[in-house]
Amino acid sequence: MIRTRVENLKEGDVLAYPVIDEAGRVLIGAGIPLKGIVIRRLRELGFNYVYVEAPGFEDVERLELISQNTELEIVKTSKEVFGKIKRTQELDPQKIQHLAVTVLNEILSKKNIAIVIDDLMVTSDYLFRHLARTMLFSSVLGINLGYSENKLRELAKAAFLHDIGFAFIDESIRNKKGKLSPEEMEIIKQHPKLADSILAKNKFSSSVRKAVLQHHERFDGSGYPAGLKGDEIFELARVIAVIDVFEAMTSDAPYRRALFPGEVYEYVMSQSGRLFDPDIVKVFSKKIIIYPTGTSVILSNNFIGVVKSINISYPLRPIVKVFAKMMDDGSVNYLDTDFEIDLLRTLDVVIVGSTDLSGNIIDYERDVSARY
Ligand SMILES: [Fe+2]
Repeated sequence: MIRTRVENLKEGDVLAYPVIDEAGRVLIGAGIPLKGIVIRRLRELGFNYVYVEAPGFEDVERLELISQNTELEIVKTSKEVFGKIKRTQELDPQKIQHLAVTVLNEILSKKNIAIVIDDLMVTSDYLFRHLARTMLFSSVLGINLGYSENKLRELAKAAFLHDIGFAFIDESIRNKKGKLSPEEMEIIKQHPKLADSILAKNKFSSSVRKAVLQHHERFDGSGYPAGLKGDEIFELARVIAVIDVFEAMTSDAPYRRALFPGEVYEYVMSQSGRLFDPDIVKVFSKKIIIYPTGTSVILSNNFIGVVKSINISYPLRPIVKVFAKMMDDGSVNYLDTDFEIDLLRTLDVVIVGSTDLSGNIIDYERDVSARY
């Protein structure tokens, strides 16, 4: 199977996994050729990537970070929680604890625990997808940082709740296309404090509260709300800061497209010791899979292929099954026989972009300063 952006789907493509809605109903089953109207619907529902069957790539297996059921539970809980706190300001700590335990048990039961930047297979709006992925990725990073079970639970809960303050901020500001005015920016910057007062009211632990309140503090003191620096920032907030930015940059938002994963990775590395804690970035950089198996990529030598397997610890250098070559005039020449390139052994070749199977280059946001 291959992993493809929804906008690159074509009529007749066949999903390798079903997609489900927030009620757990199958919206589009696996194994059925897609019609144009269904593809448009997938896009409207906020899916970025799906897995499709592709002849010649039957041997490519998906790396699954978490089951679809658990994804569903996270999305459902975020929707419920947001709706409720908006109306009543109530947030049940037991419910969040239960979710954290479910997620952690599942991740901990896996062998090689790495962050896979993959999309959810459940419909979700941008914010809930962001919360779900931040929770999953932060949990994986915490495991690799050697955290105790108790610390992991606090981290998972805080990561899930970090943007809960947005429940009280108008969607028209949150999802505004283009630049925010200074006044709008000030409103956005209220969200950590808004979250903190809700967490205090509902008797969350001080570590969850600190991690949420400080997730926009930056290692060099340039963050908000307090402008804390280095170790003054609570450790779990330093973890969520890295994941929050990384997740947001690799995801399409209502107001801008995702950036190319390779560039996001380089960006996070470049901010080690500046915006982010270098010790955390170091572990993060070795435990992240930015090109999940099935991703179609174009290489610097103009070959096009599909990521077949991962060299763990070297996220930019997977093994790629090459099937075509991009010619100088932009046309795509399909090879008679596929071959594999192990980028760990071919150091002069790098991944420079993503394509679909027809060789169409996938368009990413280029402006790193676009709002994150
Ligand atoms: Fe935030």
